[in-house]
Amino acid sequence: MESGVENAKRAVGRAAAADVPDGSRIGLGTGSTVEHLLIGLSERVREGLKVLGVSTSETTENRARELGIETSTLDRIDRLDLAIDGADEIDPRGAMIKGGGAAMTREKIVARAAAEFWVIADQKKLVDHLGQTHPLPIEVLPFGWRQTLAGLADLGLRPDLRLDDHGNPVRTDQENLVLDAALDADLTNTLESLRTLDRQILAIAGVVESGLFLDFRGRVYTAGHDGDVDRRNLAG
Ligand code: 5RP
Repeated sequence: MESGVENAKRAVGRAAAADVPDGSRIGLGTGSTVEHLLIGLSERVREGLKVLGVSTSETTENRARELGIETSTLDRIDRLDLAIDGADEIDPRGAMIKGGGAAMTREKIVARAAAEFWVIADQKKLVDHLGQTHPLPIEVLPFGWRQTLAGLADLGLRPDLRLDDHGNPVRTDQENLVLDAALDADLTNTLESLRTLDRQILAIAGVVESGLFLDFRGRVYTAGHDGDVDRRNLAG
């Protein structure tokens, strides 16, 4: 039987797929909620919807192709109409943590190329402040990563190297590493403090990108276990 969380993910994925306008160029996110989006989109494509997707990971690219969704790349398309993706945490101001699937760098590039960013998430992802349930993922170069980690710790973060189930470092699609940094509430209590934190993180040598997603314009789709979908605007 489908779990409540899975039901919620399915509901938001399908709702976003149903709202995609014909002819859209769409950024396709990564993760288990996006899986439902892709299935919903593929059903509409079979009924005649025309869309062109740009994937944020190898996994999504393979899945989109398997489902018959036409894809392209940002080298061929300058601007996207929208990007749709999951999130690990969303705070009341619409600030987000992403990167649970280690795809945050491509996800951010694709989301920034889009006129609108639609986030799809089960209600458990709604938090009072970022860092409450998930650490912040930061993609770093393998070269000298311990130095990069020390720089992040100097900012007051508590970073750890992400390991897979076999104890090996997780590699991103770019073959980089991920540091998961626990955040204290004093670093995240205002939008301005989050913006400052992101600038400081990105200024450290060796950091490729952070999973902090701030100041996006678009929508947030959330659902609880009953599958009722709530749509809110992201102010940007
Ligand atoms: C991948 C992501 C995902 O969107 C995020 O982790 C949510 O995943 P899921 O939909 O599986 O809960 O940021 O890098």
